[in-house]
Amino acid sequence: METMGNLRRTRYCGEVRLADAGQEMVVAGSVARCRDKGGIIFVDLRDTSGILQLVFDDGTDRAVFEKAGSLKSEYVIIAKGTLRERDAKTGKIATGDVELYVSELRVLSAAETTPFEIRDEVKVKDELRLKYRYLDLRRPAVHEPLVLRSKICQVTRNYFCGHHFCEIETPMLMKSTPEGARDYLVPSRVQPGHFYALPQSPQIYKQILMLSGFDRYFQIARCFRDEDLRADRQPEFTQIDLEMSFVSEEDVMAICEGLLKELWKEVLGIDLPERFERLSWDEAMARFGSDKPDTRFGLELMDVTDAVRSTEFAPFKNAIAAGGSVRLVNCKGLAGQLTRKTIDKLVEVARTYGVKGLAYTRLTEEGETSSFEKFLTEEEKAALRKAAGAETGDVLLVVSDENSTRACTALGQVRLEVGRRCGLIDPAKFNFLWVVRFPLFEYSEEEGRFMAMHHPFTMPTEDSMDKLESDPGACYANAYDIVLNGVELGGGSIRINDPALQARMFKVLGFTEERARENFGFLMDAYRYGAPPHGGWAIGLDRLVMLMLGRDSIRDVIAFPKVQNASELMSGAPDTVDEKQLRELCIECTGAGE
Ligand code: AMO
Repeated sequence: METMGNLRRTRYCGEVRLADAGQEMVVAGSVARCRDKGGIIFVDLRDTSGILQLVFDDGTDRAVFEKAGSLKSEYVIIAKGTLRERDAKTGKIATGDVELYVSELRVLSAAETTPFEIRDEVKVKDELRLKYRYLDLRRPAVHEPLVLRSKICQVTRNYFCGHHFCEIETPMLMKSTPEGARDYLVPSRVQPGHFYALPQSPQIYKQILMLSGFDRYFQIARCFRDEDLRADRQPEFTQIDLEMSFVSEEDVMAICEGLLKELWKEVLGIDLPERFERLSWDEAMARFGSDKPDTRFGLELMDVTDAVRSTEFAPFKNAIAAGGSVRLVNCKGLAGQLTRKTIDKLVEVARTYGVKGLAYTRLTEEGETSSFEKFLTEEEKAALRKAAGAETGDVLLVVSDENSTRACTALGQVRLEVGRRCGLIDPAKFNFLWVVRFPLFEYSEEEGRFMAMHHPFTMPTEDSMDKLESDPGACYANAYDIVLNGVELGGGSIRINDPALQARMFKVLGFTEERARENFGFLMDAYRYGAPPHGGWAIGLDRLVMLMLGRDSIRDVIAFPKVQNASELMSGAPDTVDEKQLRELCIECTGAGE
């Protein structure tokens, strides 16, 4: 093994171009590939910026040539040479017009044969990739998203700094507060039996910072939630988090739109529309059956309750009698693709979302076949077709339920499945949408009480103030979510800045005065000393990067992600700890730990 001696890198591999030909330079990195063509050796050198071809031939110093012949994949080297135009150019890499004719070579580290080849084209099992994440991260397609993520953070910081925001870090070790997901807890050694919680978000601290006079705060903040993993959910993730004083809902949304426009322009070279569309939560649910609608395709839901209001067909009749409704999607011209078999799969999707079934009717040249053939009168069938604007070639999918939100949600998921299966979704589109005017509360059957839909600090809308206690289910919030292609990218709200209103809110949420004080006393006290009106939002950075780069999972844009059972496979976390460490923390493990 050699040292770098007096060689120091002067250029990055991926950045040199034909205009640099003739220059002497020093590059460093890992050997991606060696080809010995007898008398001429080609080495692809990889660094964080890309790949550059190195060449050695019979004009090369013999000792250097021999050293080049001994190179193997993943050896770490530094090389000095002269850049020259290549005879056989390739468009496959950015530096395909040039090569470095090497005069000096030092081998800085040897490498054993890796458990998988460091190439994008090689398929590797997820467990192996994550166990050897440092090798996986060398692969350009795995490496690049993290470089772009860094650029996204840089553009974000510049944007905020240009708009009067102050970047402030908030604690990682904080008090556990109720009303969110499950906390990750950290035991205190110096106060046995006491625990910190890792922040689920900087929510309370950022509100306090507004009371501290900072006016505009932002942070690229790590957050922790002990929830089940999904493609767009990790137990630890990052938010672009902000809070602003003296603002309306529109002011806060405009800052978000400005940031997203800047990011798309700077990172992807794409101009986004001047202003994003806004949909109320009620409208989003009625038209798309979702509070995060994918608007890249149509197939909107319709309320067809009136068309079948006097039916004797039990599922529709019972739903309507119980105050629910009948909702329909007209899958225009999709009869050819939505066969009986496919529809059976859609029925399963609907059932997963808690409704009893999915009725359908297929209108083909051969006639109409439907699941309610024998149960609806000809007039009722005609009324449904008319309401749906149905024509030959269409498939009508119908859900009824005593709970209209549940009917819409189930049909909304069926709509998405039809969109995916029938190829209606254009992956190249970026459809942004604000969903506004969320319900303030949602009723939890499990808890037997109303819960805050966003969080307990969200300002009710003007027209909800007098209904807080009498009709919580009919109250709305000054809350907004930013949705991109059917994914909830972020959300926020205007906050309550009146301690009396905050106390009412806690009461509706079922807190006794003592419990509200115990959990949130410090916050309620802070509001007694003058509180500017304020609001903010947080965008999930991982989801943002995933969608910008067209990836399917946030794991692809996180350096060391966790897998389904929340393990980090490379280091083996979580793991057991020494008895001594547990004793210091006064903790005894009683469950299955080993
Ligand atoms: P919320 O809980 O909606 O709001 O979170 C904001 C955004 O954070 C992202 N996100 C996640 N990303 C990956 N893995 C997770 N487990 C995860 N959970 C959430 C989502 C989501 O839209 N404090 C409020 C914001 C505010 O009101 O200002 C908050 O945290 O993209």
